[in-house]
Amino acid sequence: MKAAVIGLGYWGPNLVRNFLSNGEIKSVICCDNNPARLKLINEKFPAAIITNSYSGILKDKSVDIVVIATPVDTHYQLAKEALQNGKHIWVEKPFTAKSKQAEELIKLADKHDLKIFVDHTFIYNGAVKKIKELTVAGELGDIIYFDSVRVNLGLFQHDINVIWDLAPHDLSIMSYILDAKPIAVSANGIANYSKYENVAHLSVYFDNNTFAHFHVNWTSPVKIRRMIVGGNKKMLVFDDMENSEKIKVYDSGVEITTQEGIYDALVQYRIGDMYSPKVNQTEALNLGVKEFLASIKEDRQPLTNGVEGLKVVKILEASDESIKRKGKLISL
Ligand SMILES: NC(=O)c1ccc[n+]([C@@H]2O[C@H](COP(=O)([O-])OP(=O)(O)OC[C@H]3O[C@@H](n4cnc5c(N)ncnc54)[C@H](O)[C@@H]3O)[C@@H](O)[C@H]2O)c1
Repeated sequence: MKAAVIGLGYWGPNLVRNFLSNGEIKSVICCDNNPARLKLINEKFPAAIITNSYSGILKDKSVDIVVIATPVDTHYQLAKEALQNGKHIWVEKPFTAKSKQAEELIKLADKHDLKIFVDHTFIYNGAVKKIKELTVAGELGDIIYFDSVRVNLGLFQHDINVIWDLAPHDLSIMSYILDAKPIAVSANGIANYSKYENVAHLSVYFDNNTFAHFHVNWTSPVKIRRMIVGGNKKMLVFDDMENSEKIKVYDSGVEITTQEGIYDALVQYRIGDMYSPKVNQTEALNLGVKEFLASIKEDRQPLTNGVEGLKVVKILEASDESIKRKGKLISL
């Protein structure tokens, strides 16, 4: 297969590297409207073909796949044109800037029998796969909450706030792990440097009473990538800043036998053993590319397909509405 990557800024080069190194990909065309980025890619990946013409890529019948790694606002138009020209598409997270756009792209892909892969990279991360395995096996019991912190001195985006930039990672992990339907969203945030919030808190409520909370921040002096998945049997901490023990499973919890017991909770803590399961360290993007190519060959939906992308965009949209109304609960 032949792939074309459009958008060679911060993230695009990682995609170029992973598509180039996949044995099923014959060649990779790289496109950007900034000549400096093209020059850099040319130096870094001499095997790649460079161009500034997206329309040329669309007309090229030998291109099977278009990989879109441009800013979110441009995803819909570029993706639509690619689908209309018979290309399978890989679209960076978040899938689109509006849920209506995502719905339209999903319909268009179905009509033309083409695949949409949304790059929810973390779904291919070894630690996240392990969390999924543990939850499916019932190791944690019922999941009662999901609590995530993703903060650092981050790159400010020009077209989106910190929730749209960082929370898609956590929201996609949440959607992959939890077997429950999100029903409402509440969000708060503050924009100190531009019109886009740089610190924000997002809460998601589920139909089965599970609760999820996400804290994202581009202006934190320390980098934290930590997520707690609380089950009624065991609890798990995923710390992506750890080199080896990324996941720790705690045999800890609270046992309340009577209603009065709530007030005696202190003496009813259960603090048992902790263990750290082994996780696969293969680069997530490498596995993402494999999944995308397999979905095309096997004519099936990829794991992170357009519908998964749409679910995340719906929550992001609701978070905008909630922030505007100072944290008002917005139904999904
Ligand atoms: N999956 C991940 O972990 C991950 C990580 C970072 C960024 N991203 C996503 O990747 C996308 C790009 O982010 P980035 O940080 O690389 O942005 P960036 O601003 O660094 O790069 C975007 C590039 O696209 C080019 N571009 C914009 N419009 C174009 C057009 N119409 N035609 C050709 N080139 C065009 C720009 O010149 C620029 O080089 C975003 O959707 C972002 O959310 C994903």
